[in-house]
Amino acid sequence: MRVGQGYDAHRYISDRPLILGGVEIPYEKGLEAHSDGDAVIHAICDALLGAAGLGDIGSYYPDTDKKYENIDSRILLRDVVSHLYEKHFEIGNVDVTILAQAPKISPHIPDMKSRLAEDLRLQSSSINIKATTTERMGFVGRLEGIAVYAVCLLKQTKI
Ligand code: CDP
Ligand code: ZN
Repeated sequence: MRVGQGYDAHRYISDRPLILGGVEIPYEKGLEAHSDGDAVIHAICDALLGAAGLGDIGSYYPDTDKKYENIDSRILLRDVVSHLYEKHFEIGNVDVTILAQAPKISPHIPDMKSRLAEDLRLQSSSINIKATTTERMGFVGRLEGIAVYAVCLLKQTKI
């Protein structure tokens, strides 16, 4: 068994859809990024790569590469998951905490879980997503952006 953790933060900007956990969430702003800015997926990718001892998302998909401009982060997640299966890792569970002062995330969690379950090749019950404000403190509290923490457990089925 191997544990991994991931963290990601992105700045809110106007004129961009807000995409988290593969779901478009109605809001007046989106997240600035080379990709689609899906900080939930980026944190999960880093947790998975960390648990596998494979570095981080930036080393696989550099943000200097035009190929990844505005890319759907679900494509990156599915690619990370393929690497893990090739290396005989199975995912045990994934747990995510989204720090956002706004918008309200909880109504969208069931959709996020079902999309992530597809990409992670897991049952929804092996994925947990939760959200919290920071009680108006810090960059999250000032609505400058959001932050996401993820942890996961991997099982290595063959060494
Ligand atoms: O301290 P706690 O997280 O319980 O309180 P809070 O930050 O005021 O958030 C209350 C609840 O609102 C959380 O437990 C989440 O279920 C939900 N929430 C949400 O859906 N979307 C957010 N951006 C923040 C919180
Ligand atoms: Zn990111």
